[in-house]
This record gives sequence, structure tokens and C-alpha cells, in this order.
Amino acid sequence: MKGIILAGGKGTRLYPLTKAVSKQLMPIYDKPMIYYPLATLIEAGIHEILIITTPDDLPLYRRLLGNGSRIGCSFSYKEQPEPNGLAQAFILGEDFINNDPVALILGDNLFYGTHFIEQLKKHATYDGGMIFASRVSDPHRYGIVQFDSNKKAINIEEKPIYPKSSFAVPGIYFYDKTVVEKAKKLKPSKRGELEITDLNRLYMDEDRLHVEVLDHGTAWLDTGTIESLMEASQFVQVIQSRQGILVGAIEAAAYHSEAIGKDKLSDLAEELKGTVYGNFLKSLIL
Ligand code: G1P
Repeated sequence: MKGIILAGGKGTRLYPLTKAVSKQLMPIYDKPMIYYPLATLIEAGIHEILIITTPDDLPLYRRLLGNGSRIGCSFSYKEQPEPNGLAQAFILGEDFINNDPVALILGDNLFYGTHFIEQLKKHATYDGGMIFASRVSDPHRYGIVQFDSNKKAINIEEKPIYPKSSFAVPGIYFYDKTVVEKAKKLKPSKRGELEITDLNRLYMDEDRLHVEVLDHGTAWLDTGTIESLMEASQFVQVIQSRQGILVGAIEAAAYHSEAIGKDKLSDLAEELKGTVYGNFLKSLIL
């Protein structure tokens, strides 16, 4: 399975913070934001990844992440000239996807939980579409999914003014190879975007959308507002200092998912010698 990270947009809600620097490069505690979704994909065994971002920001991502070979992965890049919606990722990524199943993760979504990674691995070959649902206190900010009494998803709406449930759809999606042709059928919404929610509805209409509720052991944080950005940093800081681990370390994710072995990890730790990050990588080997 291939993966796409969407790190586009103007991040206007975080101005002036994001006026000169891409939102997904902002720090979440001690790492650039994009490290967290990238580590999630890698940990789930998805090592061939397309990063979609704005023409201005693309060189910065390339400088940060390179071609991925350093950690046994393959990273490629594609410009999204205008923020025309999440579902546009599949049209821009058509050549990259090349009729394979694909996962999309948003560059500003952070997931934490080992069971979650197991859930992802299990569904990597799902036929149709696979999304998650998670209870939130502010449903008007998200795509919202409604279930019937048999826990079957029956409706999905983008940022409803009057939400019919409090189950939000987090920014990670798995699709089969029909995703490109479906994305091409979409029409821009009222806000002028190709909506991922409309794409999910197409799978739902075919009765091929699987919705899995995240369990309580999985944390999903987004960084859409300055408060949630701060909360995400605090979350990472608390987990890391308490458990003595690093959340969102892409080198560790590559090691856990066998993209690299001990020798390579040891080299990477050596490169980062003298930093907390490097010491952590070293501790994985011992
Ligand atoms: C997007 C999607 C929405 C989803 C959310 C998750 O919202 O449109 O359905 O719930 O990501 O973060 P946006 O990034 O436009 O606020």
C-alpha cells in the first residue's frame, strides 16, 4: 500500500504564525508537525509516500525529508498550487497511485496509540474505503458520521451546522484503487473544495465504506486552532517525559516496521549524537 500526506493550505487560522512558514512545519513540542503523521504511516508499514504541498513550501519539505532513503523509505513530492480540497490529492497523485490501494493522512493530524497502528495494519488491504470515527466535543469543525442502531454508518456530512452525531472523521483514510476515478467525479463544494466527505459518500453509496470507531486507547489530536496546537505540544511533552520515549520519531518508526535494521539505526543515532533525539534512537538498539 502507498501513502499520501497532504501538507498544503495556507494555514490562515494560525496567522501570523504560518504567514511565512508552512503550518505542517510548525513545531509540535520538539519535532516538525509532519513528523507525526509521517511516523504513523511508516509504523503501519507504508514506506512509499507522496508528500503534497504548495509550490512555495515544497523545497522546504524536500530539505527536511529528502527522498526517504536515509530511513529505508521512498518519498516523492507534488505541488498543489491552490488549496482545492483534500480529495484533490488523489487526482494530483494519480501517477503515483498507479492503480494501487492508497492511504491518505493529513499533515496536521496526530495519532497516538499502539492498538491504532495494529488497526491500520489490519485494514491496509481493505476492499472499498476505510475511515475512522472518534467522539469530539466540537463536531461542527469536522466531517461527521452518523450510525444506525446496528452501528452501521448511514450518513456523513462535512462541518454540519447542526451535527447529527458527535462522531468526527479523523484525517486518515484508506481507499482501494477506484479512488482516483471517484475523485475525478467530484464537484467543488460551497467552499470551493473537492471534499473528502463527498468522496466517502461515494463509497457509502456503493455500500463499500467501512467505518471503525477509535477505541479509548487512541488519542487523535488536530492542530487547526492555536489552542489545539498548544495542546498537541503539551500532550507530546507529557507522554515523552513520563514514558521516556519519543512520539513521532520517523527513524524509530522505520526501525519498528523493518524499513531499516539495527546498523542503519545506529548510524542515524550517531548523526544526531548529543541530542535527546539521538540518545533515544540509540536506546532502541541496546
Ligand atoms: C478536514 C476534513 C474533515 C475532517 C478533518 C480532520 O477538515 O474536511 O472532514 O474531519 O479534516 O482533521 P479541514 O482540514 O478542512 O478543517
